[in-house]
Amino acid sequence: MAFPVVDAEYLKDIDKARRHLRALISSRNCAPLMLRLAWHDAGTYDAKLKTGGPNGSIRNEEEYSHGSNSGLKKAIDFCEEVKSKHPRITYADLYQLAGVVAVEVTGGPTVAFVPGRKDSKISPKEGRLPDAKQGAPHLRDIFYRMGLSDKDIVALSGGHTLGRAHPERSGFDGPWTVEPLKFDNSYFVELLKGNSEGLLKLPTDKALLDDPKFRPYVELYAKDEDAFFRDYAESHKKLSELGFTPSSSSSKVNVNDGILLAQSAVGVAVAAAVVVLSYFYEVRKRKK
Ligand code: HEM
Repeated sequence: MAFPVVDAEYLKDIDKARRHLRALISSRNCAPLMLRLAWHDAGTYDAKLKTGGPNGSIRNEEEYSHGSNSGLKKAIDFCEEVKSKHPRITYADLYQLAGVVAVEVTGGPTVAFVPGRKDSKISPKEGRLPDAKQGAPHLRDIFYRMGLSDKDIVALSGGHTLGRAHPERSGFDGPWTVEPLKFDNSYFVELLKGNSEGLLKLPTDKALLDDPKFRPYVELYAKDEDAFFRDYAESHKKLSELGFTPSSSSSKVNVNDGILLAQSAVGVAVAAAVVVLSYFYEVRKRKK
């Protein structure tokens, strides 16, 4: 499928879809599910084969019925409500925008969003997403395949600050934190505390504590939420752009930049008028 043309109209649609998503996510309380949808669409990327990634392919029945995507059809259907109002926006952009908005409306960091992803109808084979029952070597196999780093693995695992596991979907049960609809650093605080009554720790979560390269990040993020937010926003942006090179038009223009540009233009015009008027004032004064 072709890349969307990211012109002023497309950017306006993105802005409207963002507002629509904010309202929809708040009213349905579905921030965790939307974040998981964005991650599962993007997390199939293979940097060597250049396949998978944030390309909307998770909407194909073949892919959303993979065991690892259990429960995500609901999020796909929520996004369809937005797509029907803004049909020009690609599914690939829409799902990533939903992930960014989910983090934002729950109090997390602002993740920069650049539009322009193209959709794909080709779904990767099952097995590209991580298996929660495994440990650090498996996490590295999966995330390094995407082209991501140890820091990305730990920062992105902080996404489990939101939501919970459902026995009928994954076989696991319970939330990771006491407030699963609030995006903060409590996932790391709870991880360091060890087992807490009623809170979940997957084997892959525990692997972050045992691995000497992962653990320093866990300790940092538990004590410094700003550091977590900074690294999370960076890693989430990377995840949302795997295999996607923003075109020069989509990376340079965005709605806010347009407003800023207009504001700067007004500023320059006012400054120029002041210079010209002062000049005439001086000339008139000298003539007197
Ligand atoms: C590191 C490897 C990861 C593994 C093994 C893993 C595994 C899982 C599992 C088993 C669940 C429970 C699903 C259910 O029963 O409903 C889950 C939920 C979730 N995951 Fe992950 N995950 C990983 C990474 C991530 C990343 C990178 C993000 C986002 C940045 C993320 C975001 C979420 C969210 C928000 C939920 C809650 C969904 C809900 O409440 O419905 N996960 N994950």
